[in-house]
Amino acid sequence: MPKLTIAIDGPAGSGKSSVARLVASALGYLYLDSGAMYRALALKALDHGVPLGGEQELARLANETHIELKPPTAQQEKLGIKNRVFLDGKEVTENIRTPEVAQGASRLATIALVREVLVAEQQRAGAGGGIVMEGRDIGTVVFPKAELKIFLEASPEIRAERRWKEHQEKDENITLAQVLEEVRERDKRDRERKVSPLVRANDAVLVDNTAMDAAETARLIIMLAHERDRELTAAAGRKP
Ligand code: CDP
Ligand code: CDP
Repeated sequence: MPKLTIAIDGPAGSGKSSVARLVASALGYLYLDSGAMYRALALKALDHGVPLGGEQELARLANETHIELKPPTAQQEKLGIKNRVFLDGKEVTENIRTPEVAQGASRLATIALVREVLVAEQQRAGAGGGIVMEGRDIGTVVFPKAELKIFLEASPEIRAERRWKEHQEKDENITLAQVLEEVRERDKRDRERKVSPLVRANDAVLVDNTAMDAAETARLIIMLAHERDRELTAAAGRKP
């Protein structure tokens, strides 16, 4: 099977990371969580006291920052961790998963100069194909020519509940109402921003997984990938 580029976009808690990882591992593809890059940069900005609205300062920070994503260890995988994140060589896998960092990421993600730096890195990482990349603008901006684009949706209530359960498992003291508020606020900012807003690409398949688990959703996407591959192989065969 030739190696496709698969773009999965969608709002917070729609299941992108879980589903993208399952799809990548079933197809033997790379997996890249672009949101982890925005989160890692937000963590650095928060730690260094860089204002989250400061365009030039944040662009400089993005250029000076080295973010690396790696597969989880077996033990991390058991805890539900989908990838390891390193910020300037230091592991920040857990530190970037707080509501504060999520909000910070969504604020600096509105800045065009910051996006330019991270998008260029994502394009370099996915240049060879054979990758499942997930985020907000993968099908619209990062890989507009991706062979398969999925827009993953689920109701805000179920998305907040999924995130809340994760906080519960980590004994974090946050109510479901607070998580729902965080998710709604971030979705609104992500959908309404001027640069690369969260929007379904015209050619993306809309998958609503409100009533599906991650494994079922992944099976559906794997089926779509095989179908897309057959179409591309048939089209290549028809060429003179
Ligand atoms: O990456 P994104 O924010 O879109 O979502 P995620 O981190 O993959 O999923 C959030 C939580 O929802 C995880 O704990 C998943 O296991 C869970 N989930 C689910 O229960 N049902 C799905 N169909 C997808 C994800
Ligand atoms: O896991 P969850 O869906 O909650 O968020 P994430 O994918 O880790 O992304 C965190 C934030 O980064 C989002 O709320 C977006 O503002 C931003 N982001 C983006 O703008 N573009 C991307 N390709 C990925 C994330």
